Amino acid sequence: METAPSWFCEIMRAQNFGDTLSCGSKTYVYRNGVWNASHLDVSDQQKQTEEIFAFKWKKETTFNSPEALGRVRDWLIERYGTFSALLPLLPPEPVVLDAGCGAGMSALEYFKPLSKIRYIGCDISEAIWVAVKRFNLQQERERERERERENLHS
Ligand SMILES: C[S@@+](CC[C@H](N)C(=O)[O-])C[C@H]1O[C@@H](n2cnc3c(N)ncnc32)[C@H](O)[C@@H]1O
Repeated sequence: METAPSWFCEIMRAQNFGDTLSCGSKTYVYRNGVWNASHLDVSDQQKQTEEIFAFKWKKETTFNSPEALGRVRDWLIERYGTFSALLPLLPPEPVVLDAGCGAGMSALEYFKPLSKIRYIGCDISEAIWVAVKRFNLQQERERERERERENLHS
């Protein structure tokens, strides 16, 4: 059974009952790595946004090339500086809210290593499933690098 981290419940003022999260008048159910709203009231405009972005982010080949990701990374660094320079200015393990995270493209390019932040990504579209896959992959890569570093020093 999956539980939400206590820091997340604190921030959201949420109560976690196993696979269910109660937050104000809303209920979220844990499924495949994501807390899903059990009920969504979406306008026609939001529905359109949802469909367009689900389509866009599922086509990973259109944004997952080293060139495309490099452009996003450069853009973020130009605006915010490097993450390693920003990190000491923030509280320890800063919480990052990525509202409209899509496939997590910007977040995954900027917040390296991911283990330095507490990340909350939300998205109205099915891009969220692409994001889950990409975050899992990135975390696995980081863990692998960490194991290699430990082996080097042992
Ligand atoms: C331009 S994309 C940005 C993606 C991501 N932040 C990045 O830079 O890689 C905007 C995202 O916002 C999401 N979005 C738009 N309206 C939203 C809403 N009301 N609630 C949650 N997500 C929303 C879309 O589904 C889309 O994935």
